[in-house]
Amino acid sequence: MYLEDREIMRITAEGWELFRLDGATISHALEELAEELVWSDKGSFRHHMLKEIHEQPESLRRCLSGRVVPEEGGARLGGFDLTTRDIANISRVGILGCGTSFHAGLVGAAAMEQLARLPAFAEIASEFRYRNPVIDPEALFLAVSQSGETADTLGAVREVQVKGGRVMGVVNVVGSTIARACGRGVYVHSGPEIAVASTKAFTSQVAALLVASLMFGRTRLMAADESRRFGNELLGVPELVARYLADPGPIGKAVEMVAGGKYVFFFGRGVSHAVAMEGALKLKEVAYIPCMSYPAAEMKHGPIALIDANTPVVAIIPDDVMRDKTLSNVQEVKARGARIILIHSEGDDASAALADVSIPVPRTRSSLISPLLTVLPLQLIAYEAGLALGRDIDRPRNLAKSVTVE
Ligand code: AGP
Repeated sequence: MYLEDREIMRITAEGWELFRLDGATISHALEELAEELVWSDKGSFRHHMLKEIHEQPESLRRCLSGRVVPEEGGARLGGFDLTTRDIANISRVGILGCGTSFHAGLVGAAAMEQLARLPAFAEIASEFRYRNPVIDPEALFLAVSQSGETADTLGAVREVQVKGGRVMGVVNVVGSTIARACGRGVYVHSGPEIAVASTKAFTSQVAALLVASLMFGRTRLMAADESRRFGNELLGVPELVARYLADPGPIGKAVEMVAGGKYVFFFGRGVSHAVAMEGALKLKEVAYIPCMSYPAAEMKHGPIALIDANTPVVAIIPDDVMRDKTLSNVQEVKARGARIILIHSEGDDASAALADVSIPVPRTRSSLISPLLTVLPLQLIAYEAGLALGRDIDRPRNLAKSVTVE
């Protein structure tokens, strides 16, 4: 039974009683949740965060299952409740979220533009809600949230609704406030995420947004064979994630480098910049190491002044159209003494040769899919660095799992 603001339920051995703050007794319909709410234990893992990192092949499988249908050449997300005509008439897509969910939204916005050729943007929900945004009634807004309880994201949802806009949820927790406020949307099905640092929710959010982009793309302009190729590649990702996690490369060496630094730079371009932001956030919150993330080409516009001998730089460079340009940005910081941890596609020996620590991840044909792989070493680096520095991994200081205040 969902309680609204200013309602109180008293539960005793004899039963329950629901009333409003003004004292009036009320009642709401009981709803049975389709998904089981289970307390997740750590199993054989030392921390929830590590367990959740290793659950990603399974959580991704759950997120994709039944939604990507290559034989039909597309994807379906019933929860969106949009007809093909509705999809054809979407004017633009705005993706709203905070922290990790915002980073997933950045990948989603790139996918909406590239696959569906829809103008798209991602914005931090706390900023969006207070800037008196112009809401185009033909636009589609997506509110991304693991917990479904983030006050800033809920505020952004209300702002869209007050102005007559359409907003749907991309949420993990079934029946959460944002899911209910939106009414329509998709559940990402990553399962309970206990560690404050979000890991499996990020990859499932990205996967759900890729599926949505594929669905919109196929409806609007993608040819069947192109969307089939993308869908098949997406369906193969859980296997690639499992393969990487079974042999994650020299994470220990990377940890020695970042744990010894005053601060750490993360950079990438395109969707890899979103991954850089996510990697920097993870290392900040779990290991308390100051980190900065930049689109690689921005370094020369100021931040490069901070690079000196031994500054750790984590560069995310999958083998995509931005690879060569980002490698030249790596060379610029290397020439100034930076030590490079390079996340690159398997088999890219030329990139590996530039690195002090080279971490290959399985290659993807579409660069939009690469964040699902390139983020994995960053999650492990943050976890291992937090461990090495004796941090409270699952419950970092000053943080809460659901940020229900402004
Ligand atoms: C992620 O590691 C953080 N703990 C945090 O940034 C989080 O993603 C943010 O607070 C948004 O939470 P939500 O997804 O539950 O809305």
